[in-house]
Amino acid sequence: MLPEDVASELDRVLLTEAEIKDRLRVIARQIEADYAGRDLLLIAVLKGAVMVMADLARELQRSVEVDFMAVSSYGASTHSSGVVRIVKDLDIDLAGRNVLIVEDIIDSGLTLDWLKSNLLSRNPASLEICALLRKPDAAKVDIDAKYVGFEIPNEFVVGYGLDYAERYRNLRSIAVLAPHVYS
Ligand code: PRP
Repeated sequence: MLPEDVASELDRVLLTEAEIKDRLRVIARQIEADYAGRDLLLIAVLKGAVMVMADLARELQRSVEVDFMAVSSYGASTHSSGVVRIVKDLDIDLAGRNVLIVEDIIDSGLTLDWLKSNLLSRNPASLEICALLRKPDAAKVDIDAKYVGFEIPNEFVVGYGLDYAERYRNLRSIAVLAPHVYS
């Protein structure tokens, strides 16, 4: 859907569909150069990263493998504690593989902090992070991400995979949610 389809629920559009696409194209060229001559496995955690994964993977002018994990929080504290339970694990063995984690957003950084150590314990040849968005002002841990699409302010954003109460994931742009929706 488009921002105008839910205009009254959005404060403003932060990144348009075209801006996202253009940035992913630039990142794809960097990834192609960095991984030239090497195998590459893209890993995304459901559900937020689905759109980035689909568009980045298709933008790459080379073959890659893709795999997905699903995780669940213990209680409602995932974002504050970073403690998660694996609901669906990867199908692919990471040993000796060049792994690139594809994420929609680095907010507190706790999810990626947990994920990185979990995946590193599986002995990949290399492990890097690509995140479309990063909120520098929300960071609780420092995450070293090799590819970052955009740094954004610490506001409640939805769209392009990001949800509020499971809604707005199918919005083509990334937008700031209107406060009346969540207050
Ligand atoms: C979102 C997003 C990241 C994480 C970032 O996932 O997809 O994985 O939060 O936040 P952090 O940096 O504070 O850890 P969420 O847990 O909302 O699940 P979802 O992907 O299913 O929306």
